Amino acid sequence: PSFYHECRSEGEDDEPESDSAKARLDAILNRKWSFNQEAAEEARKDMRQYFNPYDVITMTSDDVATGRLRRFYLSKKLSVNLVPPGLHRLLPKKLLFRNQHYKKCSLVGNSGVLRNSSCGSQIDSSDFVVRCNFATLKGYEKDVGTHTDVVTFNPSIIEKYNKLSTKADGARFAGDLKNYRERYVLWVPVFNRQYVTVALRTLLDFFDKHLGFIKNVQLAFPGNVLPDISDYWASKGVDEERISTGLLMYNMASALCDEIHMYGFYPFPEFNGKPIPYHYDHAPDRVGKKFDYGYKRFHELPDEFVYLKKLHRAGIVKLHVGECP
Ligand code: CDP
Repeated sequence: PSFYHECRSEGEDDEPESDSAKARLDAILNRKWSFNQEAAEEARKDMRQYFNPYDVITMTSDDVATGRLRRFYLSKKLSVNLVPPGLHRLLPKKLLFRNQHYKKCSLVGNSGVLRNSSCGSQIDSSDFVVRCNFATLKGYEKDVGTHTDVVTFNPSIIEKYNKLSTKADGARFAGDLKNYRERYVLWVPVFNRQYVTVALRTLLDFFDKHLGFIKNVQLAFPGNVLPDISDYWASKGVDEERISTGLLMYNMASALCDEIHMYGFYPFPEFNGKPIPYHYDHAPDRVGKKFDYGYKRFHELPDEFVYLKKLHRAGIVKLHVGECP
């Protein structure tokens, strides 16, 4: 069996809360890491048996025009959302990143472990950078960098902008969209829940109106891939109601990148004996508080982390936890 398969069957299941688990994590992370091209290819091939990674990246306007994609699905059997009018003209005409391949990518999760990590320049030094959920850059540049090629945007984030109700709310949102570097893809997962339909329409209306003004943003929406992706992860022992955004981005990055460097993936309330916030941009008063609020409803991030450690050991991804040199 290959290194990749051996690695998959290795048992390792606990959170790094106890001293022994912490020592094991340190041992994994401190070991010399090198990229294993063969294992990465194998992982990519394995993924392709379940879904086409390019369908994770985006639908194109053709998918809507030809009716290939008529609906967004919540899951295999549950409810559907009709594709809203207006989506067609916001979608890219051609598949994004079709013939592009990057040697080194940074995938940035939102864990509080990024605080004071000084990982910003390392993150920015890769060829392609993916971030999650409209992550804050301002004020955290030293730790998370600024370079952005893709950032995910859960439609519910517009609640932070008062649902774009007034001109001032729209201006604040437009300002934040421009805070990212020159040109990037705003990747909008639309397969979550019913309420998303309203938020999505608000978002589409906003972009429809401001398309000329916000030129640095290309919108992207994944196809109906969630059920297949969930099957893929279930086959790896990661079985949860909804796979986390970070793992979805790992799926996307696998199609585009050789080396995948992951920062900000650490779903635990403490690091090196000190409490950390759930998200790196959480206010200080949230540090150590309600840690499980963010994911317990849908995700099992510690299970995901177990698998990420396996990928790290297999040389498929490099996990960066803690301070960057
Ligand atoms: O949308 P979702 O709740 O999945 O993501 P998020 O909380 O905005 O964080 C982005 C990603 O970072 C998550 O999907 C996780 O993969 C990862 N994360 C982590 O590993 N540990 C944390 N404490 C927070 C996020």
